[in-house]
Amino acid sequence: MHCTRKIDDDIIYVGADNRRLKLFEAVYPVPRGVSYNSYLILDEKTALIDTADRAVTDVFIENIEHTLEGRDLDYLIVQHMEPDHSATLIDVLLRHPECTVVCNKMTFDMIRAFKGMEVKALTVKEGDKLELGKHAITFISAPMVHWPEVMVSYESLTGTLFSADAFGSFGALNGALFADEVDFDRDHLDEARRYYCNIVGKYGMQVEKLLGKVNTLDIKRICPLHGFVWREKIDYYVNKYMLWSGYKPEKQGVVIAYASVYGNTENVANILACRLRERGIECVMHDVSVSWHSSIIADCFKYSHLVFASMTYNGGVFVNMENLLHDLAAHALKGRKIALIESGSWAISAAKGMREILSPLKDTEFISDDITFKSSPTEGIGEAIDALADRVAETM
Ligand SMILES: Cc1cc2nc3c(=O)[nH]c(=O)nc-3n(C[C@H](O)[C@H](O)[C@H](O)COP(=O)(O)O)c2cc1C
Ligand SMILES: [Fe+2]
Ligand SMILES: [Fe+2]
Repeated sequence: MHCTRKIDDDIIYVGADNRRLKLFEAVYPVPRGVSYNSYLILDEKTALIDTADRAVTDVFIENIEHTLEGRDLDYLIVQHMEPDHSATLIDVLLRHPECTVVCNKMTFDMIRAFKGMEVKALTVKEGDKLELGKHAITFISAPMVHWPEVMVSYESLTGTLFSADAFGSFGALNGALFADEVDFDRDHLDEARRYYCNIVGKYGMQVEKLLGKVNTLDIKRICPLHGFVWREKIDYYVNKYMLWSGYKPEKQGVVIAYASVYGNTENVANILACRLRERGIECVMHDVSVSWHSSIIADCFKYSHLVFASMTYNGGVFVNMENLLHDLAAHALKGRKIALIESGSWAISAAKGMREILSPLKDTEFISDDITFKSSPTEGIGEAIDALADRVAETM
């Protein structure tokens, strides 16, 4: 049976939740599920905005057919060809051969490449308008937010921005379509940040460009392709996006991420955390072998200072730390203050390896000499840790 919600009388949510997916994009754990959002506009003409993942095909198709009540589907607007939003495109078109796909040229080519067929399409570009009756949609290109073909769509009657992957979040909706139906800041902001930083975090400049374009519009609602619809306190979320896309820390504080096999490096990380707290400095700790790397990366976006501590492992950086740092570098984080701690028992080289991976990051500053210890921390290391805690305090 169908499972839909009204955004208003003419715009209906026809997407669906998936709580069985273990890894989004085959890498990000989503224990709270994910939603694949799709929206149907009913006017003189009907228009579906994006489709959904294969996992939710049955209910998604039921939702569309129930909402159309036997009407034709005139348009299918394809904003993004990533299969979490386009896997069921052909399923929709087979049921609605009358439907015209509305997309840009790059998307048109991607449909051919992904689906092995050409579809009846109206190709649009930046600024083009699609009249549906009372509703009219203007297309705005948003390349690399998250793929190169992405465009977003602004519906002018209701001030609705259909924002593709931008303004999305991990987490199933669980019946609550609107962000104002939940305590977003308390219960969902962390997952929204983890989504942003890991999915689109690399493309801060392109997100800023999109924010610049949509800032000129009168936006009353934001309808993303994952997560909640925003109709209240839109500024709150847009402001978060401005911080994240500009790689600006939300908080002064320290992320301590450590790699430790036998506990000595962990011990030093814990001592540093105590010294920071004694100075009134907020810090979060992650064992890189335990925490999801996507959560560590999200915290690295959130906080101003990052301390990475690794034991030396087979002549280099411990493997999980190495992976994390490569991932962080790939996400192009910038503007952070960094310190490194290393240990080893015979040829210590972890800090050198960490520095090499992190040095391409722009506007980063290594705020202290690396701290090195052999096998286990001795009393002498206390001074170095105190000095690092002082440096962190000075540079906040
Ligand atoms: C598999 C393995 C490989 C290691 N490779 C090196 C190495 O190449 N160079 C070195 O100086 N120490 C090496 N070590 C020693 C550790 O880096 C060292 O004992 C460190 O202090 C352990 O810190 P932890 O107690 O935090 O795990 C290795 C240890 C293990 C378990
Ligand atoms: Fe995407
Ligand atoms: Fe997506």
